[in-house]
Amino acid sequence: MRVAVITLSDAGYAGTREDLSGPLIAQMVEQAGHQVVYTQLLPDGIEPLHTTLCQLCDENRVDLILTTGGTGFSPRDLTPEATAQAIQRPAPGIAEAMRYHSLQITPKAMLSRAAAGIRAQTLMVNLPGSPKAVRECLEYILPPLAHGLDILTGQSGNCAR
Ligand code: MTE
Repeated sequence: MRVAVITLSDAGYAGTREDLSGPLIAQMVEQAGHQVVYTQLLPDGIEPLHTTLCQLCDENRVDLILTTGGTGFSPRDLTPEATAQAIQRPAPGIAEAMRYHSLQITPKAMLSRAAAGIRAQTLMVNLPGSPKAVRECLEYILPPLAHGLDILTGQSGNCAR
């Protein structure tokens, strides 16, 4: 998979907090045998992320976009809204699976409003912001995502056949 990683953080963008989660995602993705082709640190909010997601799907045509941060309840946590505006076909089971798995670790997992879905040939998934949450979520969802991408890009047949 050709993977893009985007960190959403006002503090990270301002340089007052080190982004640990983006590099962790890149490391986990590469350890799983995939290629990280794009990394970006953006401020919270809808427009920068929405524009970047559309470019990565429509022009760069990456296979998978993983975002981290901005899924909670703070007024600037708008990652799910920006993602929803870019999504053409929702894939809610991925975010549901993350919350289901994460709730067995912490009840605070219910506070992540993460979304997931498809635009053209690209799958987009929101991960929570902390490195701990990133690790817990990504190690659970990454293996089945490869199968979904194979179907999306036509490299594997429909499971029902
Ligand atoms: N999911 C897992 N697996 N582990 C966690 O520690 N933290 C939660 C939740 N999801 C957590 C988790 C918390 S405390 C919050 S507020 C939400 O993710 C939203 O995080 P975000 O605003 O950094 O995206």
